[in-house]
Amino acid sequence: MCGIVGYIGRKEAHPILLDGLKRLEYRGYDSAGLAISDGKKISVFKSAGKIIELEKKIGKKPISGSAGIAHTRWATHGKPSTKNSHPHCDCNKNIFLVHNGIIENYQELKENLSRKGHKFRSGTDSEVIAHMIEEFGKKYDFREAVMETLKILKGTYGLAIMSKDFPDEIIIARSGSPLILGVGKGEFIIASDASAIIRHTNKVVYLEDGELAVVGKDGYEITNVRNHSIKKKISEVDWSFDKAQKQGFEHFMLKEIFDQPGAVRDAIRGRLVAEEGVARLGGLRNVEEELKKIDKIIIVSCGTSYYAGLVGEYMLEEYAGVPVEVEYASEFRYRKPILNKRTAVLAISQSGETADTLAAIREAKNKGALVLGIVNVVGSTIARETDSGIYNHAGPEIGVASTKAFTSQLSILSMLALKLGRQREMSLVMGKRIAGDLEKIPKLIEKVLKESKAIKKIAKKYSKYGNFLYLGRKYNCPIAYEGALKIKEISYVHAEGYPSGEMKHGPIALIDKDFPSIFVVPKDSVYEKNISGMEEIKARGGKIIAVATQGDKEIKKVADDVIYIPKTLEILTPLLSVVPLQLLAYYVGVSKGYDVDKPRNLAKSVTVE
Ligand code: G6P
Repeated sequence: MCGIVGYIGRKEAHPILLDGLKRLEYRGYDSAGLAISDGKKISVFKSAGKIIELEKKIGKKPISGSAGIAHTRWATHGKPSTKNSHPHCDCNKNIFLVHNGIIENYQELKENLSRKGHKFRSGTDSEVIAHMIEEFGKKYDFREAVMETLKILKGTYGLAIMSKDFPDEIIIARSGSPLILGVGKGEFIIASDASAIIRHTNKVVYLEDGELAVVGKDGYEITNVRNHSIKKKISEVDWSFDKAQKQGFEHFMLKEIFDQPGAVRDAIRGRLVAEEGVARLGGLRNVEEELKKIDKIIIVSCGTSYYAGLVGEYMLEEYAGVPVEVEYASEFRYRKPILNKRTAVLAISQSGETADTLAAIREAKNKGALVLGIVNVVGSTIARETDSGIYNHAGPEIGVASTKAFTSQLSILSMLALKLGRQREMSLVMGKRIAGDLEKIPKLIEKVLKESKAIKKIAKKYSKYGNFLYLGRKYNCPIAYEGALKIKEISYVHAEGYPSGEMKHGPIALIDKDFPSIFVVPKDSVYEKNISGMEEIKARGGKIIAVATQGDKEIKKVADDVIYIPKTLEILTPLLSVVPLQLLAYYVGVSKGYDVDKPRNLAKSVTVE
């Protein structure tokens, strides 16, 4: 949700900032801008639309200067336009800044500043920060003026600020929105996440809330807003630059769908001990004893991660025997959750930065629960704020619609069920079966991916329809939800995910020849029930696409089109059945000519409430 890039060093900042913006474009893509200082003047370019529009505006002429800040926006306050795009500046065009987050008290601050004569040019909350620094600058130097400003701001921010009067430094600050400082040789790169940094260095410093850094060509100093110096360790990012490339695929989303065998392999590597039927989750080592005592798990998450949580609920209840609730993180914080020391609150988040999920775990911590995480981005805020957790190691996920993070989350949840189950009632035999079958999943996903051509054909056939009903039961009920979400996100088609048993209580009224259904119907313990549901749809003239188990010939009698997945244990079927639904959504989106990596109105990492 909004991407920030900054550079200070010895090279020309212009190409580095633009490249960084492109890497962060998935965070927001309704407008963009940059400001570059050559030591004397600051040049500013802004444009509505994607980064390419900004590039066109800048044209071929390089902008000289080796310090700069840049921003790609996902609008919150003020519609996407050139005027509202960042960098924003003060009245005198001395202070330039880019901001990610929301300033909650901006109205009040703006009124005060307007009374003092400040003139605002945009409809954003962010601009107020530049004017405040200008106002404090009447009494203080640049650094102090920034600190005084930060003391007053309410809300969230990741900020990078430049002053014409101090051309050799960029001040960055964070509270609630992510910000990383990449430490290169004689240069520093500032970014909202590591994908804009790894091309230059894998050495990073993660800023914490309430911290700011003054960054120059030859070094940086980190303090809090009271100017107390803070020593921080330099961490290494384990992503390679290659992993954040399309690698010959037409879109990141397709590449990431095809990454899934590897993502599951990386999630289980070194953790799953098939011959002992156990999962060794090193990230949970420090809470081993507490885990034995927990009697309730509440999973908090959003979007696709929420649906992973719903699958996890079936897994953990059936195999670990622990009661599980799954909550939208955005709802959890406003309820009065009943938590105690024996409750574990498990946050699932690809980015580790989702504001609602973060707020939910903070609430859970306040109430004394054990807070755990399943997070992909190493060093992200959720990863750092949980008591313990498990990293996905799925590599960067760039496509806005989540795919490989989801299957990776499912494989970790199944290992968690295995771990907690074996600590409790699960037999060695059952443990070995689950672990043995999970080990085979990457190969089975490869088999599903081989069906991509056939799935593309089906997508073409159905891309003319404007509505879809996705249905599934038990483990595959959340997969129906996720399938519907995927097609909504990237094809802008109306789709509803429903438990197949619930279909007859309402949604069936929608069914006619123009309203197809997608049934996720592997050969599992609810297979016959699903078939009855399919018959009911067929009897009303509805078309059906089925995702079924290899070898199921009967299914062809009820379904118009069938996509087969290999056989596996019921608990693991979601890891296979979701893949055709991802491909279906992808091909429908592409056939309609949409930018599937950057669907309209969405952002990859939603860092505002
Ligand atoms: C956004 C993304 C979704 C994602 C959700 C949760 O809405 O567009 O793809 O599932 O956030 O993100 P998280 O990073 O917490 O998993």
